[in-house]
Amino acid sequence: MNIQKIGILTSGGDSPGMNAAIRAVVRSGIQSGFECYGILHGYQGLLQKDLIPLDAGSVANTIQRGGTFLKAGRCQEMYQAEGRKLAAENFKSLGLDALVTIGGDGTYTGALALTEEHGVPVLGLPGTIDNDIFGTDYTIGFDTAVNTALEAIDRIRDTAASHDRLFIVEVMGRESGFIAVDVALAGGAEAVFIPENFTSIDATIQHIRQGIARGKMSSILVASEGQNPGRAYDLAEQIRRKSQFEAKVCVLGHVQRGGSPTARDRIMASRMGGMAVECLKKGELGVMIAEQKGELVTVPLKSVIGKTKKVPPQMMSLAEVLST
Ligand code: F6P
Repeated sequence: MNIQKIGILTSGGDSPGMNAAIRAVVRSGIQSGFECYGILHGYQGLLQKDLIPLDAGSVANTIQRGGTFLKAGRCQEMYQAEGRKLAAENFKSLGLDALVTIGGDGTYTGALALTEEHGVPVLGLPGTIDNDIFGTDYTIGFDTAVNTALEAIDRIRDTAASHDRLFIVEVMGRESGFIAVDVALAGGAEAVFIPENFTSIDATIQHIRQGIARGKMSSILVASEGQNPGRAYDLAEQIRRKSQFEAKVCVLGHVQRGGSPTARDRIMASRMGGMAVECLKKGELGVMIAEQKGELVTVPLKSVIGKTKKVPPQMMSLAEVLST
């Protein structure tokens, strides 16, 4: 396969480090003789033929910036056969030879459908703060999100301790508790509530009471938002009804998605972007660049989509043990 023109898009929720990934694909791609184009607003840009040429200079001064300068979005048309047909037709009429997609499960579902239904050559880079993509230990943006949430917890800890208060801090993670568990472990939380696992409210109350008996007058509970952002308020109400403890709630929300990427995110994004270009050169397509046990590998997109990556139970139990 002779690849000359590549399109790059970022789709789904943005994540810190996406710019570093685009930069790496563009600069390595140009070095390898490819022409690079940025497709704006994710798949929407493909439907509207909204793209910009990217040269080495166009990605200058982006590695340290959060968000994605190509813009991101969730494109409903890609769930319809008609939408995918139009995207593939536009891809071909624009003269593109390969599509590099940076995003999560939804992004890959669209990418794989374009390949299987219309023969569009695609590659995936894992970009989501949730770290919930099957087949890779790491997703671009996760480290920044965890550190942002952790900084907030540390600050809340100061005021919680000063007032002998109980706080529930809600972090992002629609279907997964990776952010919550890391933040709970690193922030010394007293309990963590995640979508994949049941945490007993009664046991949590007992744990807080035992802490009080030992003189630990403030506690922090971490909860993933799950499918219902704001669910920490329900948790607080349940705890109040069962124990009379009045918990303060802090929903961190989209603050976790922004900000300058950490070194880890910039480096992972750069390495993954570089590897994507190596794959394009070899004609290895239909795969996601992944990190497994510290090594970069490729994983077929087909084996990634629709699968669930589980939070390691040892992380949950360690967070519990260390919070006593
Ligand atoms: O998938 C990333 C994520 O930030 C989730 O953690 C969160 O549940 C969701 O996106 C929020 O999406 P939106 O920005 O569309 O409200």
